[in-house]
Amino acid sequence: PLIQRLDYQQPAFWIRKVDLTFDLDPAKTLVTSKMQVERNRAVPHGPLRLHGEELNLLRVLIDGSSVSFRQEGQELVIESAPDADFALEIRNTTCPDKNTALSGLYTSGGSFFTQCEAEGFRRITYFLDRPDVMAVYTVTLRADKAKYPILLANGNLQDSGTLDNGRHFAVWHDPFPKPSYLFAVVAGDLVAREQRVRTRAGKDHLLQVFVRRGDLEKTEHAMNSLIASMVWDEARFGLPLDLERFMVVGVSDFNMGAMENKGLNIFNTSALLASPATATDVDFARIESIVAHEYFHNWTGNRVTCRDWFQLSLKEGLTVFRDQEFSMDMAGTPSARAVCRIQDVRQLRAMQFPEDSGAMAHPVRPDSYSEINNFYTATVYEKGAEVVRMYQTLVGRQGFEAGMKLYFERHDGQAVTCDDFAAAIADANPGSVLATHLDAFKRWYAQAGTPRVTAHGEHDSAARTFTLRLSQTTPATPGQATKLPQVVPIVMGLLDRHGHALALNAAGDTEQVLVLDQAEQTFVFENIDSEPVPSLLRGFSAPVVLDDGLSDAGLLVLMRHDSDPFNRWEAGQRLALNRILHALRDGQPLVLSNAFIDAMRGVLNHPDLDPAFKELALTLPGEAYIAEQLHVVDPQAIHAAVVAAQQQLASALRADWAAAFEAHQVKGGYTPDPVSSGKRALANLALSMLVLDAQATGDTVWPGKAYQRFKDASNMTDRLGALAALVNAGAELATPALERFHALFKDDALVIDKWFALQARAPEANGRVFARVKALAKHADFTLKNPNRARSLLASLCMFNPAAFHRADAAGYVFWAEQVLAIDAINPQLASRVARAMDRWAVLAEPYRSAAREAIARVAAKPDLSSDVREIVERALASG
Ligand code: ARG
Ligand code: ZN
Repeated sequence: PLIQRLDYQQPAFWIRKVDLTFDLDPAKTLVTSKMQVERNRAVPHGPLRLHGEELNLLRVLIDGSSVSFRQEGQELVIESAPDADFALEIRNTTCPDKNTALSGLYTSGGSFFTQCEAEGFRRITYFLDRPDVMAVYTVTLRADKAKYPILLANGNLQDSGTLDNGRHFAVWHDPFPKPSYLFAVVAGDLVAREQRVRTRAGKDHLLQVFVRRGDLEKTEHAMNSLIASMVWDEARFGLPLDLERFMVVGVSDFNMGAMENKGLNIFNTSALLASPATATDVDFARIESIVAHEYFHNWTGNRVTCRDWFQLSLKEGLTVFRDQEFSMDMAGTPSARAVCRIQDVRQLRAMQFPEDSGAMAHPVRPDSYSEINNFYTATVYEKGAEVVRMYQTLVGRQGFEAGMKLYFERHDGQAVTCDDFAAAIADANPGSVLATHLDAFKRWYAQAGTPRVTAHGEHDSAARTFTLRLSQTTPATPGQATKLPQVVPIVMGLLDRHGHALALNAAGDTEQVLVLDQAEQTFVFENIDSEPVPSLLRGFSAPVVLDDGLSDAGLLVLMRHDSDPFNRWEAGQRLALNRILHALRDGQPLVLSNAFIDAMRGVLNHPDLDPAFKELALTLPGEAYIAEQLHVVDPQAIHAAVVAAQQQLASALRADWAAAFEAHQVKGGYTPDPVSSGKRALANLALSMLVLDAQATGDTVWPGKAYQRFKDASNMTDRLGALAALVNAGAELATPALERFHALFKDDALVIDKWFALQARAPEANGRVFARVKALAKHADFTLKNPNRARSLLASLCMFNPAAFHRADAAGYVFWAEQVLAIDAINPQLASRVARAMDRWAVLAEPYRSAAREAIARVAAKPDLSSDVREIVERALASG
């Protein structure tokens, strides 16, 4: 059934206190729930309807007496619920071992774990499983002591001891009222890294990171990240840790990255475990940001939570914004901060922009859904974070901090809406552009689609003025035909032809924020002597597509001289993009101009630019982002153009790549800091270019060097970089290297995931990558049951390797349909993620379009699809 945002109503009953007892057994766990129910007099009395899925109900007592009830679909209905407060007791069993959906209580590697967001608690016991029902939980866990020596739940440990028959127990109490989605328990044979810390406020806390025996030495980075997150949240937002104990647990089978359960965060091991030998620089950075993200949720999500799931971005957009700010602050230098920003924007463009123009386009605050798990999206998370960033841009950093303070003063302990957040930031900044434009600003929550902003500049040499005409439109999206103008903050400056910054006003400012809030608006700058080059949307100040009409000459000025590193990077990307789009439009082979190659050489050899920045600037725009610029998408043509551009860049800069490779070797022991990881990134890019070029010329020196480096590498970044250089170039040595890599790491699941992913993401040539993926799907190490493993092969192919996936013979789509159906029988959430590979089928060129539609229709025709996959394929079909 479709759930509508505007249908929200408070429940007729609240649950204020819960006492839960678990008799843990993998085959049949007994759950006893004693609830203190309070009548909500704001709503007319009616039957009590509790959610419950896949449960065996044993008994229902109200105030100690059994009552009659009926089971209606996924609800337990108690007609005779009193029009008063009462005690409700429910007993049921569940089967954790059979729970392959990984939602609710399940087993992984012989231990018990839970995942309750969004609606997993109802798979543990009957409850009002909605985020506005907040209760204080006390949890008793009982289990076999030898098999499950560690028993964890939210909050503080109150009691523990031994029982008969080799069993033991633990009692946990969480003093903070919380929604059921933040509930968690863990039981198993785990070990912990521990650290005691004292907050600024002078309180002592115990931090623990629990993992399987043998993984302990891979938890140091996570612990350091947790401590850094605590320090940062107190320093930047004055938000301290509020529990005696903060626990983090790793689990190998997990649908997402991690989960912010109160005081007991549960992590996918891929987002937690790292050692120099097994994790790359990118993994280290991702772990730091996810540990921070979950920790920051303790305030933005847990202390103040969502009234209903339509408000998901209230916590996710805000928390992503906070983890992005944290990563930037940790990075340190302005250049390292810019590198973070560029990476975030690249991610937004690769994932959210396509989402916003495809079948699943939805506003940051969706209006309806049939399966909420389908709305943990790039739009809710990443576009949501951009919306929060725009608040900060409009009211300033201090104004934003004041707004956050007011938000917590008003709403601590409550379940609220995005409107409450907007009101707090605006009310803390009376008279600001935000406050005066709040209703219009909130269209960012309501309108789907990426706005297009067009800029047109005119210089009047007689009047010495520069007139900037800005206009905007937001394209139609499913269910939203027409849109109103958005409030778009445009951070900007003007450069002269030589790259000098011009004063924009009498005060001499060289940067300012223009606020575009109409369909069309004009801004005039005085005392401008000659035609300037506008640098607009600095730092990517709004999630829009900008057409500033700049010529190559203008872009070259920005690329060389802009004071904003983001726009320097952007100018280079635009130069490359223009060339690729021209070649695609004309149907001509791509030829890079000397001017472009010289500009790229200038970046590569620049004495002052950071290696990390150079690596980003020398990486061509991704194929998904290129596809976004086109009305009709031919994935093969895009791939051919990118490969041609890469080959020319590899060959034209051969000597420069070789010099860069030598110059960026990191000496000494491994640390994942931004400076050394930047050097490694650039050296790895250089190596991949050199091996690519060698493949074309028949030279064997660089492939040999790459193989040697692969063998000798002392860290995973260099080892995987060298392996990728061989695999991506299709070098002969790739085969022995892949074999060796597998043999070396066969016992480390997270590394074997990389082995699958690398092969599935390799640039397609003559169908060999697709053939390899089909073979790998039959490999002894492959399984659909582990989400990381399934994604490493299937998402890599279907979502990240368009040229291998979109085949004229439709074999990619047939494979997709088979895999989606097979996964759906095991794990609907995972299946629907993979299903989304077809979101943009309607813009494909023929023969891809018709074949894709047919494959989607075949999946949709299956009668017993999960509601997750059904929503995705039906939206896809409706979008054509
Ligand atoms: N709240 C978690 C996070 O952002 C994501 C969990 C979502 N899980 C799910 N099955 N939908 O960190
Ligand atoms: Zn989150």
